Amino acid sequence: MKILVTGGAGFIGCNFVHYMLEQHPEDGIVNLDLLTYAGNLESLADVESAPNYSFVKGDIADREFIMELFQKENFDVVVNFAAESHVDRSIVDPGVFVRTNVMGTQVLLDAAKEFGVKRYHQVSTDEVYGDLPLDRKDLFFTEQTPLHTSSPYSASKAGSDLLVLAYCRTFGLPVTISRCSNNYGPYQFPEKMIPLMLTRALADESLPVYGKGENVRDWLHVKDHCAAIDLILRGGKVGEVYNIGGHNERTNLEVVRTILAALGKPESLIHFVADRLGHDLRYAIDPKKIEKELGWKPQYSFDTGIRQTIDWYLEHKEWWQHILDGEYSNYFNRMYKL
Ligand code: NAD
Ligand code: DAU
Repeated sequence: MKILVTGGAGFIGCNFVHYMLEQHPEDGIVNLDLLTYAGNLESLADVESAPNYSFVKGDIADREFIMELFQKENFDVVVNFAAESHVDRSIVDPGVFVRTNVMGTQVLLDAAKEFGVKRYHQVSTDEVYGDLPLDRKDLFFTEQTPLHTSSPYSASKAGSDLLVLAYCRTFGLPVTISRCSNNYGPYQFPEKMIPLMLTRALADESLPVYGKGENVRDWLHVKDHCAAIDLILRGGKVGEVYNIGGHNERTNLEVVRTILAALGKPESLIHFVADRLGHDLRYAIDPKKIEKELGWKPQYSFDTGIRQTIDWYLEHKEWWQHILDGEYSNYFNRMYKL
């Protein structure tokens, strides 16, 4: 199979490229990424000369470029990770989220239709379902939960999901969609909660916890997410949505305390700051469909996965220090008003 991975220089995309090259050396992978602030080729340095891997810099919303690429490469499968992915940034500047996540997806769908791609997979998020109340632990997101978005980010992801389903129904494009809960693991950009807290705690800097820290996220190791997408590509039914999550619900405060304890740092580093606008209270996935239909099961418990992730960040300081030393520091100071 010849697979186009878009956004493969980002957090989940680069883990997916590594996963696929290891698991399916018979497949060819073309990684297309615009290399925005979130894209980093250092995450792929170890595979850049693999014979079945190549990188192309480009924009999924650039129609002419995308059409030429599809014509030249004759892809069997497209897996679309490319997106603006950070909720806080979508609150400051929603426009680029609509451009990349909605319009970029539409360009990819047109190209997949025009060039007869055999499977188009959209990597989506549980955030399209909105949030669940904190006091109803019995409620979970299923594939039937209505879309009910909160942030410009989640609205743009829901918009792209609807386009994907429309191209299936209207044009018969063979699509699948996965909606995953919060990922953590190696190569996550340090604007996201876990690496942000981890890298700041290592430097004895204050840890900005929004509101009271009681919001709940359902954490999944990125490798379990990659394995789930691989299963969907090979066995998922066309036109279907699959939720991915491993029942690892934690409050933000619990996660931050776990990180501090593992690093031997004091809880006095925690600083409660103004809450995120429209902050979703709780995410929790019901993964029964993918477990039952495709036999997927997560391999990582949160305790094992977070320990390994902390070790990875300790062993790869150079990777994240480059990011902290670059343009990102301006974002951080603006965002957290330092
Ligand atoms: P990320 O921000 O780390 O990476 C996004 C990548 O897309 C970057 O490499 C960036 O350069 C690239 N990109 C952005 N705009 C582009 C464009 N116009 N053309 C080509 N490339 C472009 O994001 P991530 O956390 O790896 O998320 C990947 C996908 O998974 C996203 O679609 C996101 O919505 C979804 N998702 C993420 C999570 C999570 O917890 N991180 C959970 C569920 C779903
Ligand atoms: O659920 C899937 C989603 O998970 C993905 O679709 C998104 O792309 C991904 O970014 C993530 O969204 P969240 O908003 O949940 O992730 P984030 O790491 O930004 O925040 C996790 C929680 O931590 C959230 O409740 C907000 C809180 N938080 C975050 C930051 C950056 C803080 O308390 N302080 C912070 O500084």
